[in-house]
Amino acid sequence: MSEETIKSLLTEERSFPPPADFVKRANAKDESIYEEGKNPEAFWENRAKELTWFKPWDKVLEWDLPFSKWFVGGKTNITVNCLDRHVEAGRGDKVAFYFEGEPGDRKAWTYAELLTEVKKFANVLKGLGVEKGDRVTLYLGMTIELPIAMLACARIGAAHTIVFGGFSPDSIRDRVEDSQSKVVVTADGGWRRGNVVPLKANIDKALEGSTPIQKCVVVKRTGDALPIEMQEGRDLWWHELMADASDDCPPEEMDAEDLLFILYTSGTTGKPKGIAHTTGGYMVGAATTTKYVFDLHDDDIYWCTADIGWITGHSYITYGPLMNGATGVIFEGAPNFPDKGRFWDIIQHYKVTIFYTAPTAIRAFMGWGTEWPEKYDLSSLRLLGSVGEPINPEAWMWYHEVIGHEKCPIVDTWWQTETGAIMITPLPGVTTTKPGSACRAFPGIDVAVVDEDGKEVGPGGGGFLVIKSPWPSMLRTVYGDDERYKQVYWSRFPHLYFTGDGCKVDEDGYLWLMGRVDDIMLVAGHNISTAEVESALVSHETVAESAVVGRPDPVKGQAISAFVTLKQGVDSSDELLKELRNHVATKLGPIAKPAEIHFTADLPKTRSGKIMRRLLRDIAGGKTLGDTTTLADPSVVESLRAQYEKQES
Ligand code: WTA
Repeated sequence: MSEETIKSLLTEERSFPPPADFVKRANAKDESIYEEGKNPEAFWENRAKELTWFKPWDKVLEWDLPFSKWFVGGKTNITVNCLDRHVEAGRGDKVAFYFEGEPGDRKAWTYAELLTEVKKFANVLKGLGVEKGDRVTLYLGMTIELPIAMLACARIGAAHTIVFGGFSPDSIRDRVEDSQSKVVVTADGGWRRGNVVPLKANIDKALEGSTPIQKCVVVKRTGDALPIEMQEGRDLWWHELMADASDDCPPEEMDAEDLLFILYTSGTTGKPKGIAHTTGGYMVGAATTTKYVFDLHDDDIYWCTADIGWITGHSYITYGPLMNGATGVIFEGAPNFPDKGRFWDIIQHYKVTIFYTAPTAIRAFMGWGTEWPEKYDLSSLRLLGSVGEPINPEAWMWYHEVIGHEKCPIVDTWWQTETGAIMITPLPGVTTTKPGSACRAFPGIDVAVVDEDGKEVGPGGGGFLVIKSPWPSMLRTVYGDDERYKQVYWSRFPHLYFTGDGCKVDEDGYLWLMGRVDDIMLVAGHNISTAEVESALVSHETVAESAVVGRPDPVKGQAISAFVTLKQGVDSSDELLKELRNHVATKLGPIAKPAEIHFTADLPKTRSGKIMRRLLRDIAGGKTLGDTTTLADPSVVESLRAQYEKQES
């Protein structure tokens, strides 16, 4: 972000108090919830008491920096809180999910039906040899089988590890191996803009050679549209297994600190980190934040547009909303298929009241023009949410005016895969919002902005966002790698959790997130590390060296810009450029495909040989160059810049 942008943000004068009729029935109406949050252990303990446990905890928190245990000694099963509890209370006929398939197929799933399916699939998993403590990889599109499979794992105490359907076979293999999953659940294919994503074919490639996977369950989704091969002895059809499965499956008694799931996220060194979340604390964090941030009431229709393959879908499509007994929407397709009105059509059809999406989507909608949302009745909406990256004030105002018709509060929610639940956000019935600010920490969450030395900055200051005390839904470790956990999150400042995000505090104490300060790019809200893309590029036989940076992009937030030097004797060409872009997509998945690749004779390096990414970022972002005195050969930069400008014009 440029200094100018930052200055304009911090002097933002527009502010939006919660509408009076919203406050009237809000779950949190005033400051008292923040007061209660000043004693975090008591606050979280009271929230935990609202949920069902087989056995209560002996102690709320055990903190052995940086390792935390919450609700120590407590026993529960998250599926009881998601499903059984509502069915037993007579709400079994309430719709849990409306499923909207891309081709237009629709089906409503009640809580009672969902519970039956979960129990049946839990028995299927047991029948395949999955036991408490095992890991199961899920590689599915956005169909109802995904939450069913997640909950079935949780029912029997197996940890799920979901791999987003846009990931490549190599990425799947890494995650299957790291987690040592026994079983994988996939589908023949998934619908995406009228095409079929070849999920099963990707799994086949991922499992070539030796693999810990013993069985592969396949959901029939796209059928004849894409024939697949079923491997004898390994591959089994979901519908055939379910036809014979018993619907009697008592929930496994889980310790509060038993592993609930692993979710991989990009690491700055390139190797993805398996973020480990446990049962009790995650359950309390997800349930509580959903209740207060999204202000759920019995008559709400809630739609979060994220993919369940990301943390947002874990916490705010599956677990959080179900624990609150909400009715949610699960949508398989894309916002611009069959046309650019698809989202608004869904909101109109289901009378969605709460809508949670990402800034990259909002900026795309802005580009498509107001005529699309204007064609539809969006009057059911009462609350809007944003997540994934900083939302620029123009996008915020557009969201407020065009989608929210100036009557819906906007909750800009900051959090991470690692935090498990929302950490910084307005509360819609309490907080006066400012366009572009995530406002303040959630009750019971202790954040600060610190300078290079870990000293807290005051109003008007800026620095690194840190979290000062443990919170229930925090990651417990990097799966199988406690050292990496300590090094990545707890070594930059001792005693403080390092988020990797830059942040400013304005004179009113409002927080303004400034994006990553490390080598993670945020491309359309997806975290992709520069190192990951660089190693994919150098794995191509023609590439000698590469440096990857994120440059500002008006829609995606950041776009991937790669600088590549070729091996001796290899000539650059448009074909090679195309091939390299596709190579990265094959290695990592389409989301990591560079927007541009620049061939260069040299990369700018310091005298000690480090690539100066800062300079490349400036070149790609079209900025004036900063200090170049540490460069080994300053002329490299100038020739790169000249070449870049020529290519771009
Ligand atoms: C960024 C997604 C500004 C941030 C839930 C964070 C945000 C990373 C916001 C985590 C927001 C997420 N404002 N930045 N409201 N929400 N981020 O793990 O850089 O996919 O560190 O979790 O996204 O991304 P992740």
